[in-house]
Amino acid sequence: MPDDTLIDAAIAVRIHAYAPYSHFLVGAALHDADGRLFVGCNTENAAYPEGLCAEGGAISAMVAAGGRRIVDLVICGGGDRACAPCGGCRQKIREFGAPDLRIRMVNPSGTVLLVRTLAELLPDAFGPEDLATG
Ligand code: THU
Repeated sequence: MPDDTLIDAAIAVRIHAYAPYSHFLVGAALHDADGRLFVGCNTENAAYPEGLCAEGGAISAMVAAGGRRIVDLVICGGGDRACAPCGGCRQKIREFGAPDLRIRMVNPSGTVLLVRTLAELLPDAFGPEDLATG
């Protein structure tokens, strides 16, 4: 299955998560419009609100490399309950993802627990286009 690359990458980067406070490790992997792979892991901080989510890290890596479009995204949490992106991350994904962007949530064994589109996770979303109408 060609998409296994993203699943493998999300599982692999999750191991590097820095989560000494929550002990909840998350990995995220995405493909941009050029087929490039970017990964991120959550990076917590002793000043708790300064922690970063895995998805944000992957998005920042894409942007730093010049990417502007997420075309596929995988999120890996622990256990068998899907790690769905938090509200803030849904909005971050919205900035660079189309409504039909596929978001797969997997466990560390690679089992796909949940598949949603961005529109399902963040319906009627505010996005860059809306600023033009203000
Ligand atoms: N976390 C993520 O990295 N991504 C998500 O989609 C949900 C939550 C992180 C933030 C924090 O470091 C830990 O998981 C517990 O909330």
